[in-house]
Amino acid sequence: MALLMILTAQFLQICVAQPPETPSRIAVVGAGIGGSAVTYFLQQQFGAQVQIDLYEADRIGGRLATLTVNNQQYESGSPYIHSLNLHMQGFVKHLGLKHRKEVAGKNAIYNGEQLVLEETDWYLLNLFRLWWHYGISFLRLQMWVEEVMEKFMRIYTFQAHEYAFSSMEELLRSLGGEHFVNMTHKSVGESLQAIGVSQKFIDDVISAVIRASYGQSVAIPALAGAMSLAGTPGNMWAVEGGNKLVCSGLLRLTKANVIHGKVMAISLHSSEKRPIYEVRYEQDGTLSSQNYDLVIIAAPLHKTGYPISFHNFQPPVEQPNGTYHRVVTSIVHGYLNSSYFGFSDPKLFPFFSILSVDSPDSSFFSIESLCPVNVSVGFRRKTPQEAAVWRVLSPRPLDRKELKTFFKSYYSVQVIEWQAFPSYMSVGPSRSLPPIILHDGLYYLNGVEWAASSVEMSAVAAKNVALLAFNRWFDLHEKIDQPDLLHKLKTEL
Ligand SMILES: Cc1cc2nc3c(=O)[nH]c(=O)nc-3n(C[C@H](O)[C@H](O)[C@H](O)COP(=O)(O)OP(=O)(O)OC[C@H]3O[C@@H](n4cnc5c(N)ncnc54)[C@H](O)[C@@H]3O)c2cc1C
Ligand SMILES: *[C@@H]1O[C@H](CO)[C@@H](O)[C@H](O)[C@H]1NC(C)=O
Ligand SMILES: *[C@@H]1O[C@H](CO)[C@@H](O)[C@H](O)[C@H]1NC(C)=O
Ligand SMILES: *[C@@H]1O[C@H](CO)[C@@H](O)[C@H](O)[C@H]1NC(C)=O
Ligand SMILES: *[C@@H]1O[C@H](CO)[C@@H](O)[C@H](O)[C@H]1NC(C)=O
Repeated sequence: MALLMILTAQFLQICVAQPPETPSRIAVVGAGIGGSAVTYFLQQQFGAQVQIDLYEADRIGGRLATLTVNNQQYESGSPYIHSLNLHMQGFVKHLGLKHRKEVAGKNAIYNGEQLVLEETDWYLLNLFRLWWHYGISFLRLQMWVEEVMEKFMRIYTFQAHEYAFSSMEELLRSLGGEHFVNMTHKSVGESLQAIGVSQKFIDDVISAVIRASYGQSVAIPALAGAMSLAGTPGNMWAVEGGNKLVCSGLLRLTKANVIHGKVMAISLHSSEKRPIYEVRYEQDGTLSSQNYDLVIIAAPLHKTGYPISFHNFQPPVEQPNGTYHRVVTSIVHGYLNSSYFGFSDPKLFPFFSILSVDSPDSSFFSIESLCPVNVSVGFRRKTPQEAAVWRVLSPRPLDRKELKTFFKSYYSVQVIEWQAFPSYMSVGPSRSLPPIILHDGLYYLNGVEWAASSVEMSAVAAKNVALLAFNRWFDLHEKIDQPDLLHKLKTEL
């Protein structure tokens, strides 16, 4: 008996003494900001010895992309990042990249007949005008957005302390309670009405901002709405040389093994210890496959281009409900037709961006004069009499007649059709968010877009998945879905 006890004790000691195995191989699918960021954060968690393969079917950067006009590059996908987006700020700093020099310019809102709101050079006059037209609504909006952002910012503290969440709902609950979770069900229009923002302000201003950011109406969820309303001019920035440099930079930094291939299928192979995931992919017309301990999907599983099928999973991994929303970007090099906006003399047209409010006959969401991704010292915006590079966002490709209406003449037009954002109205009113954990070692990043789709949201989700995968791998359950984190961290500190 004693001998048995000693043997057991020795056996236990061996088990305890042995450090738990780290995963040996990890796959990441998609090299947008989500995939690049999760690669970086996974390496921070698991260490540099873990091999990370990153699959990309198309371009590094995904929806962060540029195109060339006249030998200069311009953002063709996501152009702006909010100043409070701390993960993006951190990447830029770590990679030695720079903020692009800001070039000031004025905005206006067009209602299909005339400009309804014109920004001036004078900040106080702008405030006065908003106050004059919309009264207290404007202040209420500002306070609401500030409150949401303040709560959202808590995520950086939680993540710095390595806390992870197993679902988007848990993450949101930790930031702002049930109220925050409800902000993914309730519409932004409804929520603003409830705090006393006038219908006129919603129709004239809010709807234009939401259209310009998501190409959708004020029926989108309040959280996504608040995030886009937080992006006022002056607190937005971009990366010198192009936002996509963050993605390529992170991949270079982590020395991830980038495989330019299309992932077709993921199959589960059970083993006595941990499951193995087989990733099948097509590269230059050849099919191959590799096995992994962990797989992170950092691309929308909704039908947006490169479908992935799942095999041997019980229950099966389903394609999430809902569709993505098409937004067409036209990059036009030419002369704006200022007469269309009521300025027959282009010299008097002072705006660099025009948002359009929801009206049945408005065929664009926004028209904006773009600066190149490299803004050199001494760069100035083109005057309205000069040919400039404009970005038109619209629900469908512009036809010749529309182009001839918006522009007096043009040298070139380049069109990109994006499956840009979730079509928030394409799922029922319950709007439950897609899962993060698809299987033991299979994670999904892009469900976050159904709470709010932005560059920083992808980075936040990436850090969460890296922490979640790490905490689950090593059974650190006290670091997952902890209630009342805010209070806990306050007393710990
Ligand atoms: C026109 C436009 C304007 C926007 N404006 C803003 C803005 O101002 N501010 C902001 O914060 N956000 C903005 N966004 C949203 C922002 O761009 C996205 O939320 C963010 O870039 C999403 O990044 P991601 O890495 O999650 O996805 P993606 O960038 O879509 O990356 C997914 C990658 O996965 C690859 N992939 C897909 N399937 C497979 C497969 N089977 N095998 C291999 N690879 C695959 C794709 O090719 C892609 O490169 C805008 C988006 C668009 C389109
Ligand atoms: C959230 O929504 C549910 C269901 O609509 C409701 O019962 C609950 O009171 C809401 N909670 C908060 C804090 O808004
Ligand atoms: C643009 O900026 C990036 C980042 O600073 C730099 O690497 C690149 O060389 C610049 N390109 C040009 C044409 O100046
Ligand atoms: C999709 O919607 C249907 C009907 O509302 C529902 O039964 C199903 O569970 C949903 N599927 C997923 C993956 O959410
Ligand atoms: C410019 O806009 C005006 C006013 O809408 C329109 O009459 C004209 O045809 C447009 N195009 C040109 C090339 O001026």
